[in-house]
Amino acid sequence: MELRLGVNIDHVATLREARKGREPDPLYAAHIAELAGADQITIHLREDRRHIQDRDLRILRETVFTKLNLEMGLVPSIIKIALDVKPDTVTLVPERRREITTEGGLNVAARKRPIANAIKRFHARRIKVSLFIDPDPEHIEASSDAGAEIVELHTGAYANAGSDRAVKRELDRLRKGAELAAGRGLVVVAGHGLNYHNIGPIVEIPQIEEVNIGHSIISRAVFTGLETAVRDMKNLLVR
Ligand code: PXP
Repeated sequence: MELRLGVNIDHVATLREARKGREPDPLYAAHIAELAGADQITIHLREDRRHIQDRDLRILRETVFTKLNLEMGLVPSIIKIALDVKPDTVTLVPERRREITTEGGLNVAARKRPIANAIKRFHARRIKVSLFIDPDPEHIEASSDAGAEIVELHTGAYANAGSDRAVKRELDRLRKGAELAAGRGLVVVAGHGLNYHNIGPIVEIPQIEEVNIGHSIISRAVFTGLETAVRDMKNLLVR
């Protein structure tokens, strides 16, 4: 059994935006990642458009062969775009303008009603909804109550754990979270901070069906090329 791999190509767009030019084009990255075995292309259309642009989303919707997963904040203007473009999945994430990357999971327990309302609108357009949450019971249960069919468990605390004890604690949290979520009938996905060195124990959590990985794959691709970087990760996802 193999976990599905979503490749997040935002960082290719970050490099392009460093010069506000045309290269490197994330569309090529999506194509190569798919040829190398990616099961999904993941992008985050941020309100500040710091990397992925509306044009990228539009064209990727037409060209991605596998699945297109759009990460987004719960912002009316972005919701409107998503309902119009119809990615296969939207992953709702907390978004703050000044953050370097997504910090922490969505506080579903505190924002259940607006999240449930947004989920209804996506479902009416046959778009699946994933909620990016910390692996805690209150958010898992709230995600299920709100009507999401997928939860992406935030692996950042595990990836950043500074001692063996902290790694063990965070893995326990993820294992229990995955079990609870699957028991609630949710599809369980994981992501954030995963790399070639820390992916092993995540693959061993039986309920996790998919991972979304960006930074480590694109970083490795600088040296090995993207095709090799994606294949190397795919080879680590065999359970
Ligand atoms: N999953 C979600 C929901 C994210 O927001 C991100 C970062 O954009 C990722 C996965 C990928 O994280 P990383 O770039 O650390 O692999």
